[in-house]
Amino acid sequence: MNNVEIRHGDCLTILRDLPDNSVDSVVTDPPYGLSNTKPAQVADVLAAWVTGDTEAVPAKRGGFMGKDWDSFVPPPAVWAECLRVLKPGGHMAVFAGARTQDLMGLSIRLAGFEIRDTLGWVYGSGFPKSMDVSKAIESTLTTGKSNSRSLRQTEQDGDGEAYTLTGKNNGIMGETRTYERKQFSPATDAAKQWDGWGTALKPAIEPIILARKPLDGTVAANVLAHGVGGLNIDASRVGMSDADREAAKVPQPVQHNDARAVYQMGTGEGRNGATFEPAPAGRFPANVLLDEHAAAEMDEQSDAASRFFPVFKYQAKAPKRERPVIVREDGTKIAHPTVKPVALMEWLVTLITPEGGATLDPFAGTGTTLQAARDKGFSAIGVEQDEDYIALIEQRLAA
Ligand SMILES: C[S@@+](CC[C@H](N)C(=O)[O-])C[C@H]1O[C@@H](n2cnc3c(N)ncnc32)[C@H](O)[C@@H]1O
Repeated sequence: MNNVEIRHGDCLTILRDLPDNSVDSVVTDPPYGLSNTKPAQVADVLAAWVTGDTEAVPAKRGGFMGKDWDSFVPPPAVWAECLRVLKPGGHMAVFAGARTQDLMGLSIRLAGFEIRDTLGWVYGSGFPKSMDVSKAIESTLTTGKSNSRSLRQTEQDGDGEAYTLTGKNNGIMGETRTYERKQFSPATDAAKQWDGWGTALKPAIEPIILARKPLDGTVAANVLAHGVGGLNIDASRVGMSDADREAAKVPQPVQHNDARAVYQMGTGEGRNGATFEPAPAGRFPANVLLDEHAAAEMDEQSDAASRFFPVFKYQAKAPKRERPVIVREDGTKIAHPTVKPVALMEWLVTLITPEGGATLDPFAGTGTTLQAARDKGFSAIGVEQDEDYIALIEQRLAA
């Protein structure tokens, strides 16, 4: 019987109470630490880590949407506890921010993990947060500043075309409002020269670091002794339609081993000039995962190109029905800003957890990993430091 355990508190403290070699996998979406990444702050933290202060994070607080928990990536001390409680050869899948995956990876490596791969969770629904360089120049030249208020002022004072904007007035959880705006139209020569320049790309990828606790001997010896060490390829295959299956027949001539690696043939084996059939269970899983927007964009470029990758239909970000919300007595709401899609977490947990095994999420949030594990027949332990979010986990698991 699969069992889900929720622990409230700081994960570093709570993990210290768990026995050695007691979980089969770790699947987690920790703080990405997108603030406090000035080179000097990062250098100070890295220096502390490599000289033995493995709990060090920058003194300055403040992270995503003002959350203190997001002020830096978890330090090596946290991952060292994950390493200790994982069975030898056990895998860990860790989401990371595109801008801070280097720090997340280093922290994981310094704890003693091997990095095995980095998966790309590609989505088409991200919104670019790029500053208009031309507007910033115009604002600096006309108001002496380029903060958001003066940028808005510069835009509204110009001769640009008027338009109506509908949006949330307080981040993703705010009320919807309508604003009257003007397009920015550069007037100064310097702003005209830099028209069309920005500072950032549209975000479309979240890396997922795949790490492994070092093996106890060979893969075979480790799997026999500890029941972990491999990836569940067959359970994570990408399903195929009949048309896909036909299209996927390997063109001739092809090297036997190439075909086996990519298609896992069912029939028609042969070294030269053979046609291979894709395995009935589907394509070999890739380290790129797509949401439905990314899949649709890819298919627009080249018909059905997305069939090569796991696609989590309608799972760009977690849909509303998957986001637990609690309304307090005073009418305010408890909701979480970074909920992951359940289907994506199910795929990850299945990839790295043996049948009937136990997975750990030290940064549980609303408990998406816990739900995914339970629904797929695994046990799970989730740790969350925020009492409000514990209530969301309970609501999610009760639903
Ligand atoms: C990115 S969120 C996880 C969201 C989750 N994937 C979901 O779908 O709901 C990270 C969570 O880690 C929690 N957290 C941060 N630092 C922690 C710590 N030291 N111990 C336990 N929980 C922590 C935060 O409160 C936050 O809810």
